[in-house]
Amino acid sequence: MLAVILGTSLRSIVDDAAFGEPIVTPFGTTSSSLVQTEIFGPRVVVLARHGNDGTVYAHTVNYRANLWALKDYGIQQVLATATVGGISSKLGIGDVVIPDQIVDYTYGREHTYFGDLPVKHYDFTYPFTDRLRQILIQARKGAENSEDLNRGTYGCTQGPRLETGAEIIRLKRDGCDLVGMTLMPEASLARELNLDYAAVCLVVNTAAGLAQSEIDLKHAHTVATSSIETLREHLGRAVKLLDQ
Ligand code: HPA
Repeated sequence: MLAVILGTSLRSIVDDAAFGEPIVTPFGTTSSSLVQTEIFGPRVVVLARHGNDGTVYAHTVNYRANLWALKDYGIQQVLATATVGGISSKLGIGDVVIPDQIVDYTYGREHTYFGDLPVKHYDFTYPFTDRLRQILIQARKGAENSEDLNRGTYGCTQGPRLETGAEIIRLKRDGCDLVGMTLMPEASLARELNLDYAAVCLVVNTAAGLAQSEIDLKHAHTVATSSIETLREHLGRAVKLLDQ
């Protein structure tokens, strides 16, 4: 069974009324209830990462509860959506990127299910499940298909503030192509639970210091809103491919 974790841009795709009470897990309460919906195709479950009303911010999301609830529900595959700032000069606003790597700059988030002892290590060389990534790539419309959008290193920052110009220079030096606040520890918790996990990232602004002007959050919001249908269709095609 497949779940879509709805980030900021896609949250409004599901009718408010569809969301019930969040779920209580051994790791605390989820951001939202799990909603079974036909929006992306039959039998897809959605979870609103930022809560029913969008007030659960990236640094306060209970990622452990969210992933645990999905596993408990019988989910095996997770597609996550996220809005990002573009760092690579090859990316433009409105682009949809399927990242293949992560650099984690977050701190203080509950990031593992494993207790102190015994420490359990696991391979995380490739943080996203390649089969899911390939499906997301295949699900693109021809014109959107470009090598620059089919890979990318996602730098995950702590938030809630956006980055300083110097921080973005550092991220760029580190090899990051995009910057967002939510895919970690989501991706590594999915790995701990043996869930397949991949993400689609919508570029809603140019990262701090790289454009002529400061970041216009209103414009970023407009980009997110106007891309909802594109993302929904993309995910719908991916769900269909996975069902085959
Ligand atoms: N930085 C971090 N997170 C983001 C950004 C950004 O520029 N844009 C959207 N999410």
